[in-house]
Amino acid sequence: MQITSFKQYEEDFKKSVENPEQFWGEVAQNFQWRKPWFKVLSWNFEAPEIKWFEGAKLNITENCLDRHLEKSGDQPAIIWEPNNPEEESVTLTYKMLHERVCRFANVLKRNGAKKGDRICIYMPMVPELAIAVLACARIGAVHSVIFGGFSAKSIADRINDSQCKVVITADGAYRGSKQIPLKDVIDDALIGCPTVEKCIVLTHVRTPVSMLKGRDVWWEDEVKHVNDICEAEEMDAEDMLFILYTSGSTGKPKGVVHTCGGYMVYAGYTFANVFNYQPGEVYFCTADIGWITGHSYIVYGPLSQGATSVLFEGIPTYPTPSRFWDVVEKHKVNTLYTAPTAIRSLMSYGDEPLEGKDLSSIRVLGSVGEPINEEAWHWFDEKIGKGKAPIVDTWWQTETGGIMISPIATVTPTKPSFATLPLPGIQPILVDENGQEIVGNGVMGNLCIKFPWPGMLRTTYGDHERCKQTYFSTYPNLYFTGDGCLRDEDGYYRITGRVDDVLNVSGHRIGTAEVENAINMHAGVVESAVVGYPHDVKGQGIYAFVINPEMHGEAELTKKDILQTVTRVIGAIAKPDKILFVSGLPKTRSGKIMRRILRKVAEGDTSNLGDTSTLLDPAVVDEIIEAAKALK
Ligand code: PRX
Repeated sequence: MQITSFKQYEEDFKKSVENPEQFWGEVAQNFQWRKPWFKVLSWNFEAPEIKWFEGAKLNITENCLDRHLEKSGDQPAIIWEPNNPEEESVTLTYKMLHERVCRFANVLKRNGAKKGDRICIYMPMVPELAIAVLACARIGAVHSVIFGGFSAKSIADRINDSQCKVVITADGAYRGSKQIPLKDVIDDALIGCPTVEKCIVLTHVRTPVSMLKGRDVWWEDEVKHVNDICEAEEMDAEDMLFILYTSGSTGKPKGVVHTCGGYMVYAGYTFANVFNYQPGEVYFCTADIGWITGHSYIVYGPLSQGATSVLFEGIPTYPTPSRFWDVVEKHKVNTLYTAPTAIRSLMSYGDEPLEGKDLSSIRVLGSVGEPINEEAWHWFDEKIGKGKAPIVDTWWQTETGGIMISPIATVTPTKPSFATLPLPGIQPILVDENGQEIVGNGVMGNLCIKFPWPGMLRTTYGDHERCKQTYFSTYPNLYFTGDGCLRDEDGYYRITGRVDDVLNVSGHRIGTAEVENAINMHAGVVESAVVGYPHDVKGQGIYAFVINPEMHGEAELTKKDILQTVTRVIGAIAKPDKILFVSGLPKTRSGKIMRRILRKVAEGDTSNLGDTSTLLDPAVVDEIIEAAKALK
């Protein structure tokens, strides 16, 4: 299954296009199935209806755990590095992880969870988070992991959307020098969540928490009541494995649904290939399991391949900006997979944090989540890879389940800021606004995918129509990614960023509509418009134009109040970087906000605003430009 030469890549790619069923059927043979499929693929992008490995039975945890026990049971599966470097790190071998997953799976059963139930997980980056995820999969329950930075309201919305029965959380989390009261946040969320029957609480920071009789139980107590034998539930390849909520350009976040068989094959295949993983190597992905990168490339991908995956609780700059390099040196990390925003942030500290650090174990570097600018690419290459480690700039999305366009380490010649070429099985196509294919090289367009791949989303939870509208209706018979893309003279792909109203802030995906809704909930705010602007470290910053005639005290204080509202409604990750109070917004006669103008203002480039003749009140634009100049 592993590609070892560029020639092989070309051959595999060709085969995957000419005969996709044979190609994926062969890849899937590298996994363990209880019962084989009778059909590799049936699909229809119009409905959409996509089925991979139809009729096959499996349990993903048997692939991630059981099948490694005999040969590599004593090999480390997870190395946990705590937030505080003074604390001991923890290594769980495959045997230990298997035992703990089975035990916790029995805890879930004891608390009423069964196949098909939805379970919300809101936890710190500790081994028990991976254990909770795998325990859900073990019993066939559907996990919905929520990133620890989301607010009580965001959690409640997600829990209610998928009617979760059980919540798994911890008393609190460490994040650098801060402590986050997870259970308090969950308590606030659960006031409005009638479907939740049980809440299992892990002790981590041991801060005082309220435990509600009949609903809340301690993780540590529960595991004492069960044994560690848990036969894996037999799942259909197309049974739901997990839901992960993500932002779009309209409305509330959608629950992207991934299924057991296709997702497993795709996460495992892409992990083994993109990172050129070799047995015994230590692989470190710095993402949080609350995002898709953590699902696919901390948990399922690496473990399905018997790899050793580092799980890091902390942040790159705590206690010092040397922390990543300390972790690399301590655990002799061979592959480091991180985000451009982290690279840019660490780059800003200069060379000092790197002095005396032994990074010689590094063999492969990876980047994900946002476009990587050339400066950051070169710094990563020279300072961290010492010019010897290939950089895989991996483009993909929550919806794609796994990496789509990326170099294959040691195989594909790289080019700074290019995600390079599609992986075997992926058929990208660039289209213009009218959906016409843009052929040839040296062209730009909207990135679509014209053929299914095993890891693709199947639906959005509880609302199939929304899935259809969002991804399959913009251009008939194509999956639309929402990204703009350049294909250069060599046929290499560079992702240029979103073409819809979705922002990418520090690699986090945030819908402008969501932020606007949150701001509009603030007392006194009449209306708001949110756009992104280039930000040196975050990639994009959030710029909010707000009509707020009823200031409560000073403007600066009101801005802080608004930030507090956004933090309450969504979470701190969605806080605008800049707020500009205005008396009106540039609208067309039909009432549509001309975001193009606001983007220009936010970028600080108002020399050419384009056609403004359809504006209802052009004077508003001048006022906004003047006000923006005064804003720091
Ligand atoms: O705009 C693209 C950007 O991140 C979006 C997907 O965000 P999310 O679903 O949160 O998943 C992030 C982790 C896979 C994409 O639509 N993006 C992701 N990777 C890259 C990227 N943009 C440029 N280059 C990348 N390598």
